[in-house]
Order: sequence, then C-alpha cells, then structure tokens
Amino acid sequence: MSEAPSTSAAAAPPPRATAGVLVWEWPLRLWHWLFAACISGSLYTGLSEDISLLAWHLRLGYCVLGLLLFRLLWAIWGGRHARFSSYATSPGRILAYFKGIPATGAHTPPGSALILIMWLLVTMQVLAGLFASDEIFTEGPLARYGSDEWVALMTGAHHRIFWLIIAAILVHLSAHAVYALRRDPMPLSMFTGRKPASVPPTDQRWIAALLTAFAAVALVWSGLELV
Ligand code: HEM
Ligand code: HEM
Repeated sequence: MSEAPSTSAAAAPPPRATAGVLVWEWPLRLWHWLFAACISGSLYTGLSEDISLLAWHLRLGYCVLGLLLFRLLWAIWGGRHARFSSYATSPGRILAYFKGIPATGAHTPPGSALILIMWLLVTMQVLAGLFASDEIFTEGPLARYGSDEWVALMTGAHHRIFWLIIAAILVHLSAHAVYALRRDPMPLSMFTGRKPASVPPTDQRWIAALLTAFAAVALVWSGLELV
C-alpha cells in the first residue's frame, strides 16, 4: 500500500525569492557596507574643492587601509566563501559563464574577477596615497620618507587610479542593476547573506571576526604611531 504524502510536507510554504544558502557571514556583510561607505567618502573628500575636508580624507583612507588588512586576513581564515580559494577564476570560465554555463561555486567567474580587480585597485590607491602630497597643506604619512621624484610619481598615480576604481564600481552597480531588473535575488545577498547556490553554507565566526578586526586596527594604529 502506498503511503499518503505527509500533511506537513504538503503544507510547506513555497520557497521565498530571497531563500538560498547563507554564503555571506555577517562580518563580511558589515565589511562590505563599511568599505562601500569609506570608498564613497574618500572619493567625495578627495574630489571636493574644500581643503578642510582633506583631514577627513586621510582618516577615511586609514579606515580603508584597515578594512583592506581585515579583508586580507579574512581571506585566509574567514568564512568558507570569503577565502581566496573561493575566488579562483579565469578568462575561460568567464567566457563559459557568459555563454550560459552556470557558476559552480559561491561566486560567478566575472564577479570574482571584478572583486579581485577592486581589491587590487584600492590597495594601489591607498599605497600611493601614503606617499602623495599636494605640496601645500596635506601629505600622506610616508611622503617625508620618499624622494621628490617618488612623491611626484605616487601623487600622479593617486590622481589617476581612482578613475579606474570609479569605473569598477560602475560595472559592479550596473551588474547588480541588471540582476535586479531580472528579479534575481543576487543584489539582496549583501543584505540577507543568502543566495541560490549549490554550495555548503558559511559559518558566522564572530569571535574570529572580532579578533581579526582588532588585529587590523592595531596594525594601522601602531603603523601610524611609528611613522
Ligand atoms: C591612506 C590612504 C590615503 C591617503 C594617505 C591619501 C592621501 C591623499 C592626499 C595627500 C591627497 C592630495 C593630493 C593632491 O591633491 O595633490 C589625496 C587626493 C585624493 N585622493 Fe587620497 N588618500 C588616501 C586614500 C584614498 C582613497 C582610498 C581614495 C579613493 C578610493 C582616494 C582618492 C583621492 C582623490 C580622488 C583625490 C583627489 C585627486 C585629484 O585632485 O585629482 N584617496 N589623497
Ligand atoms: C561604493 C559602492 C560599492 C563598493 C565599493 C562595493 C564593493 C564590493 C566589493 C569589494 C565586493 C567583494 C566582497 C568580497 O568578497 O570581499 C562586493 C560584493 C558585492 N556587492 Fe558591492 N560594493 C558597492 C555597492 C554595492 C551595492 C549598492 C550593492 C547592492 C545593491 C552591492 C552588492 C554586492 C553583492 C551582492 C556582492 C557579492 C557579489 C558576489 O557574490 O559575487 N554592492 N562589493
């Protein structure tokens, strides 16, 4: 005799549009929004004609440096899908994805490439900023250790790389606008942490996150005290 379907299974609600696997632990989500805010603030204070904002520009720059250090450490021992190995990508995989072969990991191949590019560009911008100088009021904390040629080179780089950062952010936002138009829950994943994917869930690891944040702040603080 065949078994009747259980009532609890029959009454199970349909999956919600945002349902999915928890791929982003809260420390990574918090990191993302702090990073987005500090990058936006750095661009605003850097590009504003108001020189009184340059002190805030340096403070926000140090926050970006701390966030990059946190992210570097978190990519080594952080959540399952936030580690370096999770961002493996290649031109072949990117092409295959655009030809319709779905991503197998937590990140899409073009998404991984863009994320790696953003990390790299922001790191270059911060490193150049540490040596940059406007030759009047404001200079990065390491400018006094560089020769005039080196400081001019780094200032020139700092005046150019941010355009590439703006371009990368525009691609990032456009990609999420396309997802949103297609009613794909991807853009919401940085709020909910969840997205539809056939991967094991991440773990929250909040004690590790607090220790990592403490290490990143201590590194930036002591570095600035030393110079
Ligand atoms: C520790 C980090 C940073 C330091 C020490 C730093 C330092 C400086 C300094 C000294 C200037 C003035 C240079 C001049 O006007 O000639 C400047 C300008 C600027 N910075 Fe930064 N910066 C840092 C991070 C960043 C970040 C993360 C961004 C953006 C993502 C950024 C974007 C800009 C922009 C757009 C300008 C104006 C460039 C222009 O006038 O063409 N900086 N920065
Ligand atoms: C200035 C603005 C922004 C910047 C600089 C930025 C930067 C980044 C970075 C660096 C990552 C990689 C996270 C990591 O794995 O380390 C990322 C991922 C992500 N961002 Fe943003 N973001 C910005 C705005 C936004 C907005 C407005 C949304 C959503 C509506 C968004 C949604 C996402 C999502 C969903 C991911 C994960 C992508 C994936 O799973 O591959 N971001 N963003």
